Amino acid sequence: MKAIQLNQFTSNFNELELTEKEIPTPGKGQVLVKMLYSAINPSDVNYIRGDYQVALDRLIWNRTELDKLPSFQPNGQHPHPQLPYIPGGEGVGIVVGNGGGLLARQLQGKRVAISAGPPMGTWQEYTVVDAKKAVAVPSEIHDQQAAMLLINPLSSFGMLTDVLNVKRNTWLLQSGGASALGKMIIRMSAILGVKTISIVRRDEQIADLREIGADKVISIQSCNAETLASHIQQQVHQATSGEGVHYGLDCIGGPLLEAMLPCLTLNGQMLVYGTLAKADAQVFSRDLMMPCASIQGFFAGNWLAQKSLIQKISLMRGMKKMALKGCFDTPIDSVFSLQDIAEALHAATKAGKTGKVLLKFP
Ligand SMILES: NC(=O)c1ccc[n+]([C@@H]2O[C@H](COP(=O)([O-])OP(=O)(O)OC[C@H]3O[C@@H](n4cnc5c(N)ncnc54)[C@H](OP(=O)(O)O)[C@@H]3O)[C@@H](O)[C@H]2O)c1
Repeated sequence: MKAIQLNQFTSNFNELELTEKEIPTPGKGQVLVKMLYSAINPSDVNYIRGDYQVALDRLIWNRTELDKLPSFQPNGQHPHPQLPYIPGGEGVGIVVGNGGGLLARQLQGKRVAISAGPPMGTWQEYTVVDAKKAVAVPSEIHDQQAAMLLINPLSSFGMLTDVLNVKRNTWLLQSGGASALGKMIIRMSAILGVKTISIVRRDEQIADLREIGADKVISIQSCNAETLASHIQQQVHQATSGEGVHYGLDCIGGPLLEAMLPCLTLNGQMLVYGTLAKADAQVFSRDLMMPCASIQGFFAGNWLAQKSLIQKISLMRGMKKMALKGCFDTPIDSVFSLQDIAEALHAATKAGKTGKVLLKFP
């Protein structure tokens, strides 16, 4: 079977290798999935560039000894995979084999959305995944939408309803408003009674977001480094009648996060969940001290790993309700085959794309 292999961390997508591999064998509790579509997400690019490895290397709680390899979770659990590995964080496919165990056997023959990731990612014709990370997809959901059913929906729903636990009649300010996840936040917030202010970097995105229920959209297209913060802060001040926002969600970082922090109202909460600008932010302690505000990080895998089975079932139920209201519907920008992986990654990372980029399997 064909697979995409990453041999070394790189920003040059041409270095990803299309290779031939044996079809993997599922172990107990695992399923073998024949892939139909896989999404390309920013997290996949982080795995290709080695950004997660660099981030984990800075920390001290995620290894048994400081000179040991870092992991995503305490006590060396879920270590960062070693190269070479097969990228691809999610996708949809058919379960064509299983290694035994009740759940794995129940999924046999079903179409499933899976959350995977290196070393055994979804950018290969067949992959093996823990049955607990495979969700049977209802027939009314199209294959392409099913390929994007887990990472962004789960993260956006979890951040809003669990981590921030948003209350009605409040304001939420988010960066990356036109991202797939940002649109989910807008739609769900409207249902939850939270008013949104979304920051985008192109004027033409304002109308799109207003159409799906955004209360206010701030374009920073004509801003420069000197005007960015004052432009955002003036508009947030005006929209909230001087109150500021109760919640912030940032996936960009750098100067944009610096501009958003002073917009938090008393006891406001900022959740940082992405680093698309690839730039660090300078946090002014008093931006947090004066309003008794807080800043917190979010990483879906580690957030979910701390949930009990009952909590996970409850999350799934809540997400299903939002899914039925169309909150997670995501437009497709383009679809590529596996051999065009470099082109696909360029399309997925170019500014102004119109939706998600997918890989299609034969
Ligand atoms: N922490 C977690 O567990 C977690 C889970 C899921 C997603 N995420 C993060 O959520 C974010 C959104 O993911 P997605 O799949 O929804 O992304 P996406 O659909 O690919 O959209 C990315 C958006 O970010 C904007 N953008 C990219 N670089 C930017 C920059 N330097 N400055 C300003 N805007 C920029 C793009 O603007 P244009 O439209 O103008 O090009 C685009 O609207 C990513 O950072 C991802 O890593 C995090």
